[in-house]
Amino acid sequence: PGRIRIHHLQQAKDTGTHFAMLTAYDQYAAAVFDEAGIEVLLVGDSAANNVLGHATTLPITLDEMILFSRSVSRASHRALVVADLPFGSYEVSPQQAVESSVRLLKEGLVHAVKMEGGADYADTVRAVVRAGIPVMAHVGFTPQSEHALGGYRVQGRGEASQRIVDDAVALAEAGAFCVLMEMVPAETAGAVEAAVRVPTIGIGAGPGTTGQVLVWQDMAGLRGGRQARFVKQYADLRTTLSDAARAYADDVRGGTFPGPEHTF
Ligand code: KIV
Ligand code: NA
Repeated sequence: PGRIRIHHLQQAKDTGTHFAMLTAYDQYAAAVFDEAGIEVLLVGDSAANNVLGHATTLPITLDEMILFSRSVSRASHRALVVADLPFGSYEVSPQQAVESSVRLLKEGLVHAVKMEGGADYADTVRAVVRAGIPVMAHVGFTPQSEHALGGYRVQGRGEASQRIVDDAVALAEAGAFCVLMEMVPAETAGAVEAAVRVPTIGIGAGPGTTGQVLVWQDMAGLRGGRQARFVKQYADLRTTLSDAARAYADDVRGGTFPGPEHTF
């Protein structure tokens, strides 16, 4: 099958079907998810947390995002590959956003960029779209603003619901091909899905969006520790990998690895 394109995601919305997105930061995860039929791979700035070991997404640089993006893009053949514009790479001006987005496509080899921010960023989205670069908007809880938002908190509750809808509508009108919502009540997400023509993607946004996204190490149980409420864990890679490492070390210490079959 050919490459997933943005019109295929629109088709999903128009026909009432769903698609799946996972983060990926390296070639093996990308290849496995691509072969498994995951429609969209997100080179998230969550690589800051999940690969580089930072406490927030803020420290990751555009150069680092480009490195991860290249690995994912080279290893995937069918998925649409989207990369995050990291903190500090787009806020200054539409020009800065275009320059950073061009680098993510030209050097990172991705097909689209994702940008955090509400209606205030409509002009910035317009500028990037004008450059021929598809933009996925990211509203609701936006981790790059966690200090301004006062930590990981559900956004768009009660009265604040309308603001999320207004943000999504403004960004879709500016040309975003998709609106991602993080940690918003299902009712708010449903209102957004109904208010915009383009597909929406949810993480902690309930079942009413066209697509869903999870961080792969959460989904596959590699991260360990307490999971957020919105995560469903489909595997226990941390235990699998830990058992493998222990078994290997036992073999080495016991002198049973390498065996004759591993020896020249
Ligand atoms: O960086 C990321 O992983 C994300 C998703 C959680 C949406 O932006
Ligand atoms: Na992100």
